[in-house]
Amino acid sequence: MIEMPEIVGDAVRSLGLSTAMRAAGVVTGVLPIPQPVLLVGPGSSRRLGEALAGFGHRRVLIVTDKVVAGLGLHQGLVRALSAGGVEHVLFDQVSADAPIPEVERGIETYRRKGCDAVVAVGGGSPMDAAKVIASSVANRKRPRQLVGYFRGLRAPEPIYAVPTTAGTGSEVTVAAVISDLEAGKKLVIADTRLVPQMAALDPALMTGLPREVTAATGMDALTHATEAFLGHWATAQSDRMALAAVGMIYGNLRTVCRNGRNLAAREQMALAATYAGMAFTRANVGYVHAIAHQLGGRYHVPHGLANAILLPHVLKFLSPAVTKRLAVLAVRAGVGGDGERAPTLAKKFIASVEALNRDIGIPGTVAALRAEDIPQLAKDACWEADTNYPVPRYMSPRTCEGILRKVLPAPRRRRG
Ligand SMILES: [Fe+2]
Repeated sequence: MIEMPEIVGDAVRSLGLSTAMRAAGVVTGVLPIPQPVLLVGPGSSRRLGEALAGFGHRRVLIVTDKVVAGLGLHQGLVRALSAGGVEHVLFDQVSADAPIPEVERGIETYRRKGCDAVVAVGGGSPMDAAKVIASSVANRKRPRQLVGYFRGLRAPEPIYAVPTTAGTGSEVTVAAVISDLEAGKKLVIADTRLVPQMAALDPALMTGLPREVTAATGMDALTHATEAFLGHWATAQSDRMALAAVGMIYGNLRTVCRNGRNLAAREQMALAATYAGMAFTRANVGYVHAIAHQLGGRYHVPHGLANAILLPHVLKFLSPAVTKRLAVLAVRAGVGGDGERAPTLAKKFIASVEALNRDIGIPGTVAALRAEDIPQLAKDACWEADTNYPVPRYMSPRTCEGILRKVLPAPRRRRG
């Protein structure tokens, strides 16, 4: 369980956590969160198709993007569906961050074609779009009407997931993030019934992922595990999941970035991302995600990339409040030993995140970031964190601005 911060005490805790947030933490700690049946290993996407035929579905909507469809990553699933007598409709119009108009086209397609389940094949955006399509159809509500917690009365249409990246963990989470492009905002829809019924972790679909995507999505998973482990809503079970994920990511992320065709390492990364998803769907995330969401909304910086760049900076800020927890992460990551002092181990963990970023080609700055936008971005990030996340140490917008200045490209940093 979470230990008390060593430097900041209850005063800072209460600044960071409103009464409503504390109440939400109590609820989220006991609320049953369903977990999907997991099929794991090469060929598991085909086995998912066979299972769907057994479940009696007649026509499923496959929600994906043009890249996945172009590579034919859904073909094993489709062959199994056809062999089992299940028709499919391919909806491959989801782009990055799942903009609302695309999700609405998916809802319309599902209704028009008379589908009876959604199968997401792709990264976070198709998976999140599929969840919102399933909930919107069942509740006869538009996506915007579902934004927030438990806004749909009815359970979504059946949802199945085949992640093609190892990062988002969306195949096991209660949330879906879609985007309002006009407002430059990301919107979160959360409901325990958004967890897919079944998910296939098929490493054979991941061997062709470009290195940058492998790196960024892997660091997204590390951020999920780390933020879930450091926040106030961590439970014994979320800790087990988070620590397992951290160990597996440190053991395999460099390998898959060097050799994307290593099936065993790909499978370990897929499992790690799923474990990290299980950890954060219970224990939530923190400031790294709060800031990354602003960079994604404003500049479309890939989510995992923004998280990777921000993670060491946020950890340095949090460190005085979570030194012992960072020490546990260092040992699990294999960058320090049990006999070392906690402050030493905490520093080693943060340094190891920086080294991991360097080794897998993550830059140190956010190329799109503009100095003049920083005050608003910081304000919005702090608001998001203060109202949603059980952060272990309160961050003022001014401190957040300082972190954003650290990730400004150098010439702009001098001007800004
Ligand atoms: Fe994330």
